Amino acid sequence: RPRVFSGIQPTADSFHLGNYLGAVRHWVALQDTHEAFYCVVDLHAITAGHDPAVLRQRTRVAAAQLFAVGIDPDRSALFVQSQVPEHAQLAWVLGCITGFGEASRMTQFKDKSQKQGSDRSSVGLFTYPILQAADILLYQADAVPVGEDQRQHLELSRDLAQRFNSLFGPTFTVPAPHIVKDTAKITDLQEPTAKMSKSSSSPAGIIDLLEDPARSAKKIRSAVTDTGREIVFDTATKPGVSNLLTIHSALSGRSIDDLVAAYAGRGYGDLKKDLGEVVREFVTPIQERTRAYLDDPAQLDKLLAAGAEKARAVTAPTLRTAYERVGFLAPV
Ligand code: TYM
Repeated sequence: RPRVFSGIQPTADSFHLGNYLGAVRHWVALQDTHEAFYCVVDLHAITAGHDPAVLRQRTRVAAAQLFAVGIDPDRSALFVQSQVPEHAQLAWVLGCITGFGEASRMTQFKDKSQKQGSDRSSVGLFTYPILQAADILLYQADAVPVGEDQRQHLELSRDLAQRFNSLFGPTFTVPAPHIVKDTAKITDLQEPTAKMSKSSSSPAGIIDLLEDPARSAKKIRSAVTDTGREIVFDTATKPGVSNLLTIHSALSGRSIDDLVAAYAGRGYGDLKKDLGEVVREFVTPIQERTRAYLDDPAQLDKLLAAGAEKARAVTAPTLRTAYERVGFLAPV
């Protein structure tokens, strides 16, 4: 079976609908066809300042949500990045074949470091995409399900795999992005041309999986919509309405065409009201299951330890091979 790897940061108290629709729901689906490795990337989550107790809690909440939406610990490995030491170890080697200019061109780094100022942004923020490449290459992943915003980082992962292979001999699978267009960029409810983002959106622009669905419904009612009154799907001229239709379609399983036909002659208010209901029905059982996992942290930690063990069965031999190819002495 082909392999799939992906990761998500524990940098908020909840995942938002962009995370779920752009990436995580594909993680769930790919378990049927792939050997799957999914990672809560806590090493990535300390690149911009954090509180230790909050990080620990968010790491568990992230894992609980992933189990709650359907990551199956019997079929897949779900684990925490810092519990698999090979990630950090391979990242060093890859950093040594990455150009300084090449890393400087990563747009997420440029955006974030510009916002923070170069003296306040960390070297970890700069090398972040190299650690991401290590994550992926360690598993010899064939496919990496992510949202559109990760495309450039995946391109770097591919480049580094190819470069390592040509410098030291065939070692890593060159991974392909798995970006499903329809929901690859869920947008901010208040600013429907920008992506929904935990770091840049205001709370009113984000729907969190774990928030009170009454609050979500209220945010949807206040979502910025477009001029005109017709409910049509056109991301260029009607980004707000199109985003609501995209979310509705992905959660309800009804096609966009079907929805557009059903709302013909009706107003934005009807769509928003119905979408609030669709979100409530979707998140309610997820919230219950998440709570159940969090109610038993010892059991949750056990599941994660088992995931890390499955991961290490793959990463230890990969790292050993990579170290040997680079010219390091055999491990003692
Ligand atoms: P992160 O934690 O920011 O986001 C997790 C996933 O959610 C997707 N996503 C979105 N998709 C559609 N619309 C949106 N508005 C939206 N916002 C976020 C992201 O594309 C991502 O797939 N660098 C990664 C984490 C990572 C990783 C990896 C991913 C670390 N190592 C290895 C893949 C493979 C990140 O910050 O994702």
